Amino acid sequence: NIEWIAAAELDAVPQDDVIGVEVGGRDIALYSVDGEIYASDNICSHGHARLCDGFLDGHEIECPLHQGKFDVRSGKALCAPLTEDIRCYPVKIEDGRVFLALA
Ligand code: FES
Repeated sequence: NIEWIAAAELDAVPQDDVIGVEVGGRDIALYSVDGEIYASDNICSHGHARLCDGFLDGHEIECPLHQGKFDVRSGKALCAPLTEDIRCYPVKIEDGRVFLALA
């Protein structure tokens, strides 16, 4: 049984951009790419940088600190200096709101 937690209004996530939100006590990044919403941990797996302060290019988020890149669909680390992926979370849109499954 999946527990869906409301994370943001859909309108609050700008097209082809990223925002940081706190959901269930966790720092989460929400991305909007080509009309799809994706969610991942907001803290980089390499150091203490918030990905929402980085640069989103298509499905790639670039960390603001050392320019590591992750794929926002999978959380996969795409280049040095990253050695660890980040977690992504299932997303659903209902009644104009973004819900996440964090468990
Ligand atoms: Fe993100 Fe170093 S903290 S690449």
